[in-house]
Amino acid sequence: MDKTANQMLIIFGASGDLTARKLIPAIYNLYKGKHLPENFVVLGASRSNWTDDDFRKNVVKESTYLKDELATVDKDFITDFCDKIFYHVLDKDQDADFGSLNERITQLNKNYATDNNYIFYFSLPPAAYEPTAKNIYDQGLHKEDDGWKRVIVEKPFGYNLETAKNLNNALHRYFKEPQIFRIDHYLGKETVQNLLVTRFANSIFEPLWNRNYIHHVEITNAESVGVEKRGGYYDKSGALRDMFQNHLLQIVSLIIMEPPIGANAEEIRNEKVKALKSLRVMTTDKELHDNTIRAQYVSSVIDGENVKGYREEDGVDPDSTTETYAAIKFFVDNWRWADVPFYVRTAKRMPTKVTEVVIHFKSPHHQIFKESSLNNKDNKLVIRIQPDEGILIKFGVKVPGQGFEVERANLDFYYSSLVDTYVMTAYERLLLDAMQGDATLYARADEVEAAWAFVDPILNFWKNSDAKVYGYSAGVWGPKNADELIDGVSMWRNPCENLADDPGYCVIS
Ligand code: BG6
Repeated sequence: MDKTANQMLIIFGASGDLTARKLIPAIYNLYKGKHLPENFVVLGASRSNWTDDDFRKNVVKESTYLKDELATVDKDFITDFCDKIFYHVLDKDQDADFGSLNERITQLNKNYATDNNYIFYFSLPPAAYEPTAKNIYDQGLHKEDDGWKRVIVEKPFGYNLETAKNLNNALHRYFKEPQIFRIDHYLGKETVQNLLVTRFANSIFEPLWNRNYIHHVEITNAESVGVEKRGGYYDKSGALRDMFQNHLLQIVSLIIMEPPIGANAEEIRNEKVKALKSLRVMTTDKELHDNTIRAQYVSSVIDGENVKGYREEDGVDPDSTTETYAAIKFFVDNWRWADVPFYVRTAKRMPTKVTEVVIHFKSPHHQIFKESSLNNKDNKLVIRIQPDEGILIKFGVKVPGQGFEVERANLDFYYSSLVDTYVMTAYERLLLDAMQGDATLYARADEVEAAWAFVDPILNFWKNSDAKVYGYSAGVWGPKNADELIDGVSMWRNPCENLADDPGYCVIS
């Protein structure tokens, strides 16, 4: 286990929801798990006119996100944790105010011996990234003469390829690439990281991991919730920007990448970039029309309750064409994946919350048991990202009795069976990595741009053509037309909450 150096975490946008919901609970769990260095301080910076005590009360003592956790420990333990947390009010006139922020950082650094090692976390609206980076730079807080300095940048990283490039250029004016950590919380999920281990730590999968044995790959990311309170943000984003460009293309890159030379950050990220660059960019209207589908949920009744349609949600334009469902078929132009179709879909207001990857293997080249060689009996490897995390292999077994009737059986592994292992949440893992300077699970500048280069033409096509926006009732598996995308190859596997349940028995909850 790497040793974590003494340091300070400065959170910009500290009064926002992310700090209370994800960041402070993650730091609390790191504290509880004794992963924090001896000298460690959190400094929240934001416009809200709070004191240190207000901040501690809002994000720790009275936080609904920590309520259950704190109920199990004694008061001194909580007080010790709170003693590490401070707050600084940033005025509207940020430029002038950064001088006083600098003084506060210097003072805390001196008092708590954090060795001039700082992480600046940008939990901010994207428009504030560049000015904040500049202010840090102008104060000389980026300099690494006496300690390291890192920046963690939240998503969305750009709005399209051009803005992502601009943002990279802007950040590079003030920080060197190794100082910049672009967070994608999917990379912090154990099951996403396990994609690498499944592929490269076993000799049974990798020899089959190519066009000779794989028929197609299917990825489903479904959420049962709608846009919740984020209608304003989501309406300008949509499923493709919100989930596909980042989280899902990260998963795709781990599935299609070539074996890296080793497990360090640059080696893994080099392969991921190469993988993303080999996605076949769709250029013609016909390709874009035939291989992409967008849709929006419409009102419905789920479990006896009326559920709003997307256009009725707060903050959403009543004539919005923003997609809450996106399904994309694409190919990967390289030796390994030639002619293997990939089907990826993501959506809100589906029957259940689930993310999984299904590797569909080809039928045996020579069929002996003809009657049983139906497509749906072919081998499948199901990698369950969430929930009921695990891996399932579907393979054929003989039905006892005369003849050779073949039935499908499951071979499964569940993370929950590792009872003694504490599985860190994505934010815990990613924060700890950044604290230790490990960028393996963070996206590099060229990686983000390669992902946008694939997504941009789809966004432009949807914006500038008469590509239809289909409707689907909240609580169903998307529009009927999405079946046509995968028709002739297979059917979507509409997964259930439990990994081993076969599709078709989902409970809407
Ligand atoms: C976020 C998206 O990045 O990921 C949300 O902005 C989405 O819209 C969330 O709900 C899903 O994350 P998870 O970890 O719950 O699958």
